[in-house]
Amino acid sequence: MRYRFLLSLHGMNDLLITDIKSLIGILPPEVQLLKGKEMQHTETLENAWLYAQDELIVDFGLGDAPSAYLSATTCINAKGKLVLPSYIDSHSHIVFAATREEEFVMRIKGKTYEEIAAAGGGILNSAAKLQKLSEDELFASAYERLFEVIFQGTGALEIKSGYGLTVADELKMLRVIKRLQEVSPIPIKATFLGAHAIPTAYKNNREGYIELIINEMLPAVAMHELANYCDVFCDQGFFTPNETLRILKAAAAHGLRAKIHGNELGYTGGVQAAVEAGALSVDHLEYTSDAEIACLLQSTTMPVALPGCSFFLGIPYAPVRKMIDAGLPVCLASDYNPGSTPNGRMGFVFSLACTQMKLTPEEAFNAITINGAHALELSNELGSITKGKKANLIITKEVPSLAYLPYHFGSDAIDQIILNGKPLVRLS
Ligand code: NIG
Ligand code: FE
Repeated sequence: MRYRFLLSLHGMNDLLITDIKSLIGILPPEVQLLKGKEMQHTETLENAWLYAQDELIVDFGLGDAPSAYLSATTCINAKGKLVLPSYIDSHSHIVFAATREEEFVMRIKGKTYEEIAAAGGGILNSAAKLQKLSEDELFASAYERLFEVIFQGTGALEIKSGYGLTVADELKMLRVIKRLQEVSPIPIKATFLGAHAIPTAYKNNREGYIELIINEMLPAVAMHELANYCDVFCDQGFFTPNETLRILKAAAAHGLRAKIHGNELGYTGGVQAAVEAGALSVDHLEYTSDAEIACLLQSTTMPVALPGCSFFLGIPYAPVRKMIDAGLPVCLASDYNPGSTPNGRMGFVFSLACTQMKLTPEEAFNAITINGAHALELSNELGSITKGKKANLIITKEVPSLAYLPYHFGSDAIDQIILNGKPLVRLS
């Protein structure tokens, strides 16, 4: 993938967007997230302009732009178009070695995700392949995926390890993520997910693997400053709530906050473990009952649903309608990975939220913008149209309304991507 930014030749880089049909997602700077009924609203200006300078949104308003801004180095006319903050994808696994369409075919013929995993497929299949590839090979394919999702509207991304499952291979994955962070035009947060599965070598010694994570992986990850967060797949057939809490306690001692996979495969205590660990988020939540909702209501842990996974595996959708009605915040993310969700398109997540989870377009939009930013501790710099935030924006094609975006599923309707106040241009 080759790309470039439109840059001015004379130092100053500023951007004026005029004639905007709707400027959507305006929030005051102090708003970190939206919950319950607050999610119903998206503050919008009709017939607006926006001015950005030095990567940041400086000003916006109604009607004609002030004459002081008319000499901006880049001017874009957005007649008939919407301008939105970029989507925030707070959960992905885009560093992987190979796709797994053979397991997809096995599922079509009747095997379940768990049966395939228990027989050595799934995460272990991905780990065996990843262990054979070099850091450079993994970087090259992950770089392609990063730009694939950037051109689909993602303006900040979280990426997990978890297909290494040895000390050397987990560190290799995290070094790939670090290299992506260094070249990426969008912010990337890194999550250590050594506790993604029990590797084959520890099949009869799960305690040994947990000790390896605690005594060797976590200290090395922390020493080389390779991760922002620590994740555990707390679910049936993977890690128990007690094991999860032990790992997360050790991670916290190294300054790594928790973001966990929970309740994808059953009512397995993942939510309660996340809340007990003070996790920033608990992700998946396909199996969420009143007890889990009550538990989340007593916490600051953000529930993150991954509808692409439900769509692809044919498992239940997380009951986010019920969560919002109970007053919770809800975030939605892609889960882009080779096994359960081979797709990172946030526009499709937006559609599934509306068609399958019964969120309104406004609720779904808030779930993939400001609440996504909160799930990555980026609300102060991204997730809304706010003066002083990073100018990572989507300019849509000419479309009638915000609701048209999830309605016209499968198409992003994106005309231009703005990152750090500059239009992004695809060269190949
Ligand atoms: O979030 N559920 C755990 N991990 C990933 C899938 C991993 C895989 O199948 O490769 C997920 O769905
Ligand atoms: Fe995941």
